[in-house]
Amino acid sequence: MMTRSHCNCFITIFFTLLLHTLASPPHHFCKQDQRDALLEFIAEFPTGESYTWNKSSDCCFWEGVTCNPRSGQVISLDLSYTLLNSSLKTNNSLFRLRSLRHLNLMDCNLQGEIPSSQGNLSRLVELDLWDNHLVGEVPVSIGNLNELRVLSLGGNKLSGNFPIIFANLTKLSFFGLNFNNFTSTLPVNMSEFINLEYFNINENSFFGPFPKSLFLNPLLESVDLGRNQFTGPFEFPNTSSLSSKLQFLNLANNRFDGPIPESISKFLHLSQIYLNHNNFSGSIPRSLSKLANLTDLHLSNNMLKGRVPGFLWRLIAVTLSHNYFSSFANPSKDPLIQMLDLSSNSFQGPFPHWICKLKKLSLLDLSNNLFNGSIPPCLRNSTVSLIDLILRNNSFSGIIPDIFADATELQSFDVSRNHLEGSFPKSLIICKALQIVNVENNKIKDEFPFWLGSLPSLNVLILRSNEFYGPLYHRHMSIGFQSLKVIDVSHNEFTGTLPSHYFSNWREMTTSSEEIDQYYFASIGYTTPWNTYHTIYYESVYHSMEMVNKGVEMNFERILKDFRAINFSGNRISGEIPESISCLKELRLLNLSNNNFRNDIPRCMSNLKNLETLDLSSNNLSGQIPQDLGNLSFLSYMNFSHNLLEGPVPRGTQFQRQTCSSFLDNPGLFGLEEICQQTHVPNPTSHQSEELSEAEEQVFNWIAAAIAYGPGLLCGLVMGHIFTSHNQ
Ligand SMILES: *[C@@H]1O[C@H](CO)[C@@H](O)[C@H](O)[C@H]1NC(C)=O
Ligand SMILES: *[C@@H]1O[C@H](CO)[C@@H](O)[C@H](O)[C@H]1NC(C)=O
Ligand SMILES: *[C@@H]1O[C@H](CO)[C@@H](O)[C@H](O)[C@H]1NC(C)=O
Ligand SMILES: *[C@@H]1O[C@H](CO)[C@@H](O)[C@H](O)[C@H]1NC(C)=O
Ligand SMILES: *[C@@H]1O[C@H](CO)[C@@H](O)[C@H](O)[C@H]1NC(C)=O
Ligand SMILES: *[C@@H]1O[C@H](CO)[C@@H](O)[C@H](O)[C@H]1NC(C)=O
Ligand SMILES: *[C@@H]1O[C@H](CO)[C@@H](O)[C@H](O)[C@H]1NC(C)=O
Ligand SMILES: *[C@@H]1O[C@H](CO)[C@@H](O)[C@H](O)[C@H]1NC(C)=O
Ligand SMILES: *[C@@H]1O[C@H](CO)[C@@H](O)[C@H](O)[C@H]1NC(C)=O
Ligand SMILES: *[C@@H]1O[C@H](CO)[C@@H](O)[C@H](O)[C@H]1NC(C)=O
Ligand SMILES: *[C@@H]1O[C@H](CO)[C@@H](O)[C@H](O)[C@H]1NC(C)=O
Ligand SMILES: *[C@@H]1O[C@H](CO)[C@@H](O)[C@H](O)[C@H]1NC(C)=O
Repeated sequence: MMTRSHCNCFITIFFTLLLHTLASPPHHFCKQDQRDALLEFIAEFPTGESYTWNKSSDCCFWEGVTCNPRSGQVISLDLSYTLLNSSLKTNNSLFRLRSLRHLNLMDCNLQGEIPSSQGNLSRLVELDLWDNHLVGEVPVSIGNLNELRVLSLGGNKLSGNFPIIFANLTKLSFFGLNFNNFTSTLPVNMSEFINLEYFNINENSFFGPFPKSLFLNPLLESVDLGRNQFTGPFEFPNTSSLSSKLQFLNLANNRFDGPIPESISKFLHLSQIYLNHNNFSGSIPRSLSKLANLTDLHLSNNMLKGRVPGFLWRLIAVTLSHNYFSSFANPSKDPLIQMLDLSSNSFQGPFPHWICKLKKLSLLDLSNNLFNGSIPPCLRNSTVSLIDLILRNNSFSGIIPDIFADATELQSFDVSRNHLEGSFPKSLIICKALQIVNVENNKIKDEFPFWLGSLPSLNVLILRSNEFYGPLYHRHMSIGFQSLKVIDVSHNEFTGTLPSHYFSNWREMTTSSEEIDQYYFASIGYTTPWNTYHTIYYESVYHSMEMVNKGVEMNFERILKDFRAINFSGNRISGEIPESISCLKELRLLNLSNNNFRNDIPRCMSNLKNLETLDLSSNNLSGQIPQDLGNLSFLSYMNFSHNLLEGPVPRGTQFQRQTCSSFLDNPGLFGLEEICQQTHVPNPTSHQSEELSEAEEQVFNWIAAAIAYGPGLLCGLVMGHIFTSHNQ
């Protein structure tokens, strides 16, 4: 055993040598030709002039450069995240660095094609061109790089075929073509990649059947084929010599059909399986229960049916939404699930009580099923780590149990479209992380939960179509609703007046926010096998969003980022419209219709420069319509009908575009000739109110749709979270 003094002695010698070395750096350490090649290389780029290499120092000490200490040849060049901003030419002097083994040019804003001389760098072991703007096909000469172990061409716009010449690269261990525009089938025989561990072609347009021969490669750990156009049944080779290392398998977002093969269970190390967004049919294979290390199983958006086996409740994350499952077995052992998405199936019967045993539950989505009976109070046991609770659109009845006293992580609470009654759960006041509250379409009978105003992150509050009553204002409310973006309390029994400062603290409606960015940009990144988790989930949520909103001229990003709406319609609120409404400069939709508002429309409402929809119909408003409202250039729908308004209709284009019915039944209003001359003849019946409720319906249905997905989005974060804790 080495004594301390021995040890010190060694250290002393080491440092003496080191100091000696530093004091007199070896002359000509950097070979002249290597230095010249580097300088010429960097000078090729428009940004090269300003590059920080110090010409009077040894090139082997330049940032990103590593030399072989004996030969003085450059063996590694890492310029990742350097803005190079142009294309790599075939004659680039980079290709004179013939000893180069590692070349990392990721995130350099490289343009143009991959040069066909690349082939000169035949010693390359690692080539990383991730996330540039490269176009065109992969040059054949890449087949010369037969020492390559890491090839990352992902995140570009490369196109064409899967180059047959890849077959030469038998030493590859990391192979990434993901996020490009390749359009071809894959070669039938892919069994030559005998060193391959990581294979990723996510997000291209590869099509046809997937070559099962890939799975013959014995070291394979991670296969990601997501977001392509593969078709047909998915099969594994019928042999005993399959990769025994496979841990990660992503087939999501393709067009595979047929049953999930039982043989999947030959890969005993599988821990994450993504089969979502395909056309798989049949039931969940029993053999999956053999996979002792399986933690994640994602089967959403397929044609699967039957009874869900109980062993799934031992996994960490299970998503089964948008299938035809009708029942599930109860867990045989203690369930461990942290993320459970059973939404949009045909499950029925009472709330599954075993969910109360889950100690680390973060997502529970049972929405769009036929569950009935009450929400059990024992759910309290599972709320400690709960982030999203989504029970929307079932047949739950009874009261909402007041079980949120420990739910400090809760971000979304959605029990809308059930038959719930009784009071609004007061313990939600503890949930400081709450962003979304939606209880619309129930029979909740309570006062306005003004105390929610103190929740710092509450973005969306929907109490629509319940039996809420009493005033919308309480003097304690002066603190609140700083983060509110959408409030819909329509179709209740609210009464009373609103003081003129009512809206003055609703800060999120007065400024636009950048908050959404974190959701989207977290998902764009270098996907290593184990953080794709996150990415894939975001992507699928994001894409389904796009579909939901097709036909409605708004996208999902907008609702979270820019959309601001107030809907107080269909109550019995009286008094004046609060002057402070004019503070809400970001407001897009304001509906105060079908109430008892009286007196003048505040002139300052013309400050609401972003307003698109304004409905003040069926109140007792009097006086003139403020002329300045004619200047609101985004205001495309408005309704002033059924009031006591008088004087001239404002002249702005937006006003002239309205239909006559928007002004109906205001005996003193004039200047309607041009508007009413158009096809719409004044019509004393309430044809107009149908039109109104249709428009209104559309916007709010759309909000509801977006909210229905919102929690999923949030749960992307949860997954990231779980993923982190997994790895610890
Ligand atoms: C460049 O390197 C030389 C020699 O090592 C040194 O004397 C000089 O200060 C360096 N210049 C800069 C700007 O760092
Ligand atoms: C790099 O190119 C981008 C456009 O691709 C341009 O906006 C940027 O100004 C360029 N940067 C430099 C330093 O030339
Ligand atoms: C590639 O190698 C050949 C042969 O050594 C050489 O003539 C040619 O100049 C090299 N190409 C580049 C771009 O350096
Ligand atoms: C590379 O070729 C281009 C023409 O294609 C020429 O303008 C440039 O000077 C050449 N660069 C080198 C380093 O030879
Ligand atoms: C494939 O690799 C071999 C050496 O293993 C080499 O001789 C041949 O030129 C390569 N083929 C191509 C097309 O690069
Ligand atoms: C992808 O390739 C197709 C043709 O294969 C082309 O029409 C399309 O524009 C390409 N997309 C991008 C983003 O380069
Ligand atoms: C597939 O390719 C490997 C390696 O090139 C070869 O050994 C094997 O015979 C091929 N298999 C088939 C079925 O062609
Ligand atoms: C798989 O191989 C075994 C024997 O190796 C054979 O009995 C079985 O029929 C094969 N299955 C299929 C689907 O080819
Ligand atoms: C499961 O994971 C544990 C711990 O990582 C490991 O020791 C074990 O070998 C794995 N079992 C299988 C079948 O992969
Ligand atoms: C999905 O599979 C079913 C049969 O299981 C078939 O009827 C249907 O057309 C397929 N859908 C798509 C989009 O391929
Ligand atoms: C809930 O937790 C309490 C104690 O924390 C325990 O007594 C009770 O059995 C739990 N209920 C369920 C359904 O797990
Ligand atoms: C739940 O629905 C089933 C039929 O699907 C019915 O038999 C049962 O009575 C319902 N339970 C309650 C509490 O409504």
